[in-house]
Amino acid sequence: MKLLVTGGAGFIGSNFIRLALSQHRDWQVINFDALTYSGNLENLAEVAERKSYEFVRGDIADARAVEAIMQRGFDAIVNFAAETHVDRSIEDAAPFLRTNVLGTQVLLDAARRQKSKPLFLQISTDEVYGSAGPGESFDEQRILDPRSPYSASKAAADHLVNACAETYGLPAITLRCTNNYGPYQFPEKLVPLMIANALEGKPLPVYGDGLHERDWLYVEDYARAILLVLERGRPGDLYNVSSGAPVPNLTVVKTILKLLGKPESLIQFVSDRPGHDRRYSLDSSKLRRALGWQPEVNFEEGMRRTVAWYQANGEWLAHARSGEYRQYYERHYTRRAETFSGGR
Ligand code: NAD
Ligand code: TYD
Repeated sequence: MKLLVTGGAGFIGSNFIRLALSQHRDWQVINFDALTYSGNLENLAEVAERKSYEFVRGDIADARAVEAIMQRGFDAIVNFAAETHVDRSIEDAAPFLRTNVLGTQVLLDAARRQKSKPLFLQISTDEVYGSAGPGESFDEQRILDPRSPYSASKAAADHLVNACAETYGLPAITLRCTNNYGPYQFPEKLVPLMIANALEGKPLPVYGDGLHERDWLYVEDYARAILLVLERGRPGDLYNVSSGAPVPNLTVVKTILKLLGKPESLIQFVSDRPGHDRRYSLDSSKLRRALGWQPEVNFEEGMRRTVAWYQANGEWLAHARSGEYRQYYERHYTRRAETFSGGR
């Protein structure tokens, strides 16, 4: 298998590459990544020297660079590359449209022009379905209702993948997964942000009433699902991936504080995210039935491992939080704390 992974220097992509290389010694993996603020080659230090792995710096929205890499001929492409943070998409949607929409189309065009068309695996998100009501859990038939610039850009990409499959016969599979957590997640996201702040005894900024729910999945469970789909999925497949057990944000934050032995008084309610989706919950029984996948790491165990990883990797965390991140944090969280007008 000759595999092109885009966005492999990010959180999920790097976890996936490590797993793929450890399970398949004969695979050749090329990681094509622009190294934006969330891309970090330290995430792949373990495999950097392997003959079966190669890093190429490049932008999926750059048609010439994508054409050039595609000339090498691939059996499959896994497209992780994306702008991924909802709060940043609210500040400025432009990079989201460029990478998530235009970039996906550039990749699709280059892929479908190959003499032997590669399998295209699109890494989508549960957020394309929009917010679920209490007790609801969306399956793959659910109509798309994206409500943030991020999720709208990911939904657009899903439609472009379908359009390319229908129009040009590109073999494609789409995966829609719920929120991931685990080692190597950039600290702008809820779990690592809260761990990092708690480690420093800084306030933990919870949006709104903190009762928004996410269907948290440990990243290694997701990496296994992606690998299974790559090995055994069929073109045209669409799969939801989830733990199936949504948890309120406040519970996530309190779990982190407990694991670190820090007081709940560190919790600081701040103003809510505009258009904040209340609840994400996916029905992943299709994938479980078809390929026999199921999560192996439950929420308590996953959180324990994640907190331990960040405690043991202080240098990685300090590096990720330096530079542009500092300005982002100050700009974003100072405003949220200042505009807070009462919570619970
Ligand atoms: P991440 O932000 O950690 O990593 C994104 C990676 O993409 C980075 O390495 C970055 O450098 C690279 N990238 C960005 N723009 C690029 C471009 N124009 N060209 C090439 N590379 C580019 O994100 P993540 O959390 O690992 O998410 C990976 C994928 O999974 C995304 O498509 C995201 O939408 C999807 N997803 C994430 C979650 C989650 O909980 N993290 C849940 C569901 C779906
Ligand atoms: P996030 O990690 O940004 O993922 P997503 O928005 O894609 O689900 O946020 C997860 C949840 O945590 C979401 O309900 C927003 C909330 N949240 C906070 O309460 N405080 C924070 O500082 C962050 C980053 C998120």
